Amino acid sequence: MGDEPLVLGIETSCDETGIGIVRGSTLLADVVASSVEEHARFGGVVPEVASRAHLEAMVPTLAEACRRAGVRPGDLDAVAVTAGPGLAGALLVGIAAAKALALGLGVPLHGVNHLAAHVAVDVLEHGPLAEPTMALLVSGGHSSLLLVPDVTADVRPLGSTIDDAAGEAFDKVARVLGLPFPGGPHIDRVAGAGDRAFVTFPRGLSAPKDLARHRFDFSFSGLKTAVARWVEAKEAQGEPVPVADVAASFQEAVVDVLTRKAVAACREHGVDDLQIGGGVAANSRLRALAADRCAAVGIRLRVPRPGLCTDNGAMVAALGAAMVARGRPASALDLPADSSLPVDVVAR
Ligand code: KG4
Ligand code: ZN
Repeated sequence: MGDEPLVLGIETSCDETGIGIVRGSTLLADVVASSVEEHARFGGVVPEVASRAHLEAMVPTLAEACRRAGVRPGDLDAVAVTAGPGLAGALLVGIAAAKALALGLGVPLHGVNHLAAHVAVDVLEHGPLAEPTMALLVSGGHSSLLLVPDVTADVRPLGSTIDDAAGEAFDKVARVLGLPFPGGPHIDRVAGAGDRAFVTFPRGLSAPKDLARHRFDFSFSGLKTAVARWVEAKEAQGEPVPVADVAASFQEAVVDVLTRKAVAACREHGVDDLQIGGGVAANSRLRALAADRCAAVGIRLRVPRPGLCTDNGAMVAALGAAMVARGRPASALDLPADSSLPVDVVAR
């Protein structure tokens, strides 16, 4: 194990300042400072607030990660950082810190894709990834289906959301139902006592005419509007809104489409392994329905624990370590922040 590379990963693409340290595929430390509380009153992440919070959290979070891992910066073999996609100003803070560390320590810098890192993280929990793996990434910022022959070099987008991300839909519907931000965990909780079949909300891009063009794409904005209209109609009639039933019915519409398309992608591409990641992967109904549907057709399902599904530095470190192990070239020290880094560009 001593021969495996000691890699520090920095993640600052959104509102989490994440620093992770791994040795090969062993997690040594994973420290996350979140500014989510500062955004709550705005109902969404405010980029300038996030950038400033990263700046304030960076040095203490780095120090804490080294302390927990029991390593000194001088022990590191490489530094990895999220190069994109994400909020430009937020990414810049992490990239500046990573460059300073790599330059100061004289170790290689690996700028990596945030989405590939969400896939790579599962090596820390469940061991080497199957090659190929199908990945369903669902969070507040992204909803993608990826065919992943090699997470260090070959990630192929099959589809993504054409409007709202899955987590964004949870957050917006939560607001309609009077639940706090971020809404996903609250919807999950109240839906537990609700009737999933209470209202049949629309399943976006699932009709035959849509499937022809958007086989593996998602759309959640029509669903969000349908829930809002349903709630408004109830309120207009002066009737109470059955929050648990609406939450459960909405949640069912989201996870039905996600799991159906993910399983179809596996079958059509002959892939036997599905991994789910991103903050929405914490959803209890998504996990249960995915498990049922995968088991029914013999697909192995892997979902990292919730702390590794949401944004963190360990996922960046894990991908960096895989890059080092596979001998992938390091990034140049003028590595830019690319807020719209395409998903198939695994490293910069
Ligand atoms: O991955 P993440 O922490 O940050 C990014 O957006 O990249 O994901 C956050 C999203 C939020 O939209 C949040 O509402 C959603 O994940 N989320 C959930 C659950 N826990 C978090 N959505 C549904 N059910 C949950 N249990
Ligand atoms: Zn993410």
